[in-house]
Amino acid sequence: MIRVRVPATSANLGPGFDVIGVALSIFNEVWVEASKELKIEVFGEGANDISKGQDNLVYRAICRVFDKIKKEPEPIKLTLKNTIPLARGLGSSSAAIVGGLVAGNAYLGFPLNDEELLRMAVEIEGHPDNVAPALFGGVTICTQIPKLLCVKLPIFELDVVLAVPDFEIKTSDSRKILPREVPFEDAKMNVTNVAFLITALYTKRYELLEIGMQDRLHQPYRSKLIPGFHEVLKRAREAGALGVALSGSGPTIIALTKSPQAVAQAMAETFKEHGVNVKTLITHPQEMGALELVDVE
Ligand code: HSE
Repeated sequence: MIRVRVPATSANLGPGFDVIGVALSIFNEVWVEASKELKIEVFGEGANDISKGQDNLVYRAICRVFDKIKKEPEPIKLTLKNTIPLARGLGSSSAAIVGGLVAGNAYLGFPLNDEELLRMAVEIEGHPDNVAPALFGGVTICTQIPKLLCVKLPIFELDVVLAVPDFEIKTSDSRKILPREVPFEDAKMNVTNVAFLITALYTKRYELLEIGMQDRLHQPYRSKLIPGFHEVLKRAREAGALGVALSGSGPTIIALTKSPQAVAQAMAETFKEHGVNVKTLITHPQEMGALELVDVE
């Protein structure tokens, strides 16, 4: 039996669109064992909605590992225990892809190295900023141009509050509303803010996070899909959030803070005033990714 634990992730951290992601302390588990026929069971998040057939994303990722080493996929029993909310900007599809690739690799005796797994995960997902922290843990900085490159940084010592609205936004849809071009000033501001974000996190100059978490590349466009967005950011800051932003492609809002309870309450109340029910989660950056969280019996 193979068991893999894969963390949730928040991509596009602040101004780090398609580049910076962080692994969080919420997990999905993928269990794989030999079977006479394909059997998929899903528990927790998405138990009723996720496919239990051949098109299941975790199963497809496992099959990619078989394909890669030119082996016919074998029948397996796949058990998915999910706690990562689906289509909320917390990396649920990346967790499925990475969970499948890492579990498939372990099932087959670890034929693929970390770089091959990352490359395959990016191929399936299309961008690296969720799959990289799901695989490696920590904070990851990635690019695909001119070639795929990924650096892992240590985790930072702040709590991460997530306000998770009760509606879904699919990344494929929310990429379509992004502009082809952005004003030069906005591009300049994002470059500036990324520098402040990394400085703030790794020199513990947390007062710089207010600037360091601001984005002008995707948030202005995607925030229109989220009622009360700007008010939630403002009230979270007033309650003690050091930096606040959209998580991934939304609709979850992420706040970095040292006073998580107060921030969670402020975010939930403000969303409620705008007619949105949210679940708030108090999480932490997670040092270990799926690669370190494999258990083989
Ligand atoms: N960088 C991706 C996006 C993350 O913003 O579309 C969401 O999966």
